[in-house]
Amino acid sequence: MKRVFSGVQPTGNLHLGNYLGALKQFVELQNEDECVYCIVDMHSITVPQDPKELKAHTLDIAALYLAVGLDPKKSIVFVQSTVPQHAELSWVLTCNSYTGELSRMTQYKQKSHGQESAPTGLFMYPVLMAADILLYDTDIVPVGNDQKQHIELTRDLAIRVNNKYGKTFVVPDGRFLKAGARVMSLDDPTSKMSKSNPNEKSRISLLDPPNKIKKAIMSATTDSDGVIAFDVENKPGVSNLLSIYSALSGKPVEDICAEYEGHGYGDLKKALVEITVDALTPIQQRYNEIRPSQELVDILKDGTERASVIAEATMKRVKENFGLGL
Ligand code: TYM
Repeated sequence: MKRVFSGVQPTGNLHLGNYLGALKQFVELQNEDECVYCIVDMHSITVPQDPKELKAHTLDIAALYLAVGLDPKKSIVFVQSTVPQHAELSWVLTCNSYTGELSRMTQYKQKSHGQESAPTGLFMYPVLMAADILLYDTDIVPVGNDQKQHIELTRDLAIRVNNKYGKTFVVPDGRFLKAGARVMSLDDPTSKMSKSNPNEKSRISLLDPPNKIKKAIMSATTDSDGVIAFDVENKPGVSNLLSIYSALSGKPVEDICAEYEGHGYGDLKKALVEITVDALTPIQQRYNEIRPSQELVDILKDGTERASVIAEATMKRVKENFGLGL
């Protein structure tokens, strides 16, 4: 049995990209492997947060985790800040990382907008992420494509520490899906679907009502040649719709193209609205039941206890190998 770890930031509602790139994999893996899924609230404070909203969003994401199908009997589900070893290991890894490699991280470059003085938390973000992963002796990290560089850094840090201090960490691998690893924005299919895009119609959030889903999909940017074909370079909008269709329905893209041969984009979009509404409705129903329940908090507390057992054992080993403590 392999150990799986992944995390999601509690910033706002999750969108279809988060679902298809990450959460769908989380659910698939829990039947085969030992899975640990985290809500990474400490990553969220790398940019300013309203404290009340942050707490509420943490529970929102936990409820979404369960609503998409995570089973707390199979998977450990917990909140990052409730296991202090994440911060502890992050410091140890900080002392083994270099400013050069951290300043090459594309997400840091985007978020710091090239300013000379950016928040230190944004700079250290990938090291905390590496700590999350290495703390659980993780073999597999299911994530979207945008996290590839962070996983590479995690591997580099693990190998570096193992070479210097003796075998301390398991070296993890990223797991990326074929369809869904990079869901693009509906209004601009050359950039990824993201929580921070100010245009609401650029994304589909998991809790959107059917009329909002319809508006976003029907107004999605396509092209003017009217042929339903998969060609990311020349037809990024249609290709994105086909990828989403494929990821939600399980049908290969080629079959969808064959099915819609001779049809216009309107037909494809209408079918995609239906598939999306059908996929999200049961998730929303479960979410509405789980979100206000005390059971949700109890599941997270139990998750903290189970995660702590693993985290404490790893930190003990790290301290021994580094000569920390008495
Ligand atoms: P976050 O919260 O931005 O996103 C959560 C997950 O969703 C994936 N994702 C996407 N996948 C496909 N298409 C998209 N448009 C899209 N947008 C987001 C992300 O790749 C991610 O898997 N740094 C992480 C959180 C994190 C983490 C970790 C992940 C912290 N520690 C340890 C794994 C292991 C992040 O910001 O994800």
